[in-house]
Amino acid sequence: MSRIAVLISGNGSNLQALIDSVEAGDLATEIAVVVSSQADAFGVQRAQRAGIPVKVMPLPDGDDRDRFDRELADVVASYQPDLVVLAGWMLILGAEFLDRFPDDVINLHPAMPGAFPGTDAIKRAHAAFHRGEIKRTGVMVHRVVAEVDAGPAVVAEPVPIFQDESVADLEERVHLVEHNLIVAAVDLLLGDS
Ligand code: GAR
Repeated sequence: MSRIAVLISGNGSNLQALIDSVEAGDLATEIAVVVSSQADAFGVQRAQRAGIPVKVMPLPDGDDRDRFDRELADVVASYQPDLVVLAGWMLILGAEFLDRFPDDVINLHPAMPGAFPGTDAIKRAHAAFHRGEIKRTGVMVHRVVAEVDAGPAVVAEPVPIFQDESVADLEERVHLVEHNLIVAAVDLLLGDS
């Protein structure tokens, strides 16, 4: 049975989608550990409720970033994951982390490849739509490289934007697509292992 590590920073609704798929027998992997960068993230409670080991690893104030990446990599590696899944993980990971899991770190991002990297991607897409710059946004899961929210896409799905909808409405529809896509990406990458 393959193993994944899921890294989160907040609500953890995408973690929940993975938990639900594993529990339903639709995703044949074990969530070996959940790491949260925030102690009070709701995703921590979701993991605890599912009986998954949880590690809380906040970025210490003014700490050496390479050292944090090394310590994080040590914790994640100790669970021997086949794939590291960033599901709403909001810290940038450098080479000290990425080089420990070559090609085996994926990230969920609420935009199409090349569009709206960084935070508030859905809000920025909504604003760009109303400026007439785009007609749709999307969701992607991509392999993680040093550049933020870049790296080759594993799966991507466009999401239309409707004229009369609020940012909250768009966010809700984007999250629904994410919940399917994150499971599909893990299944695709680990399906044969
Ligand atoms: C998701 O929308 C995810 O795509 C986004 O954070 C949210 C986490 O939601 N990630 C990024 O913006 C990464 N740049 P969740 O905590 O409910 O899974």
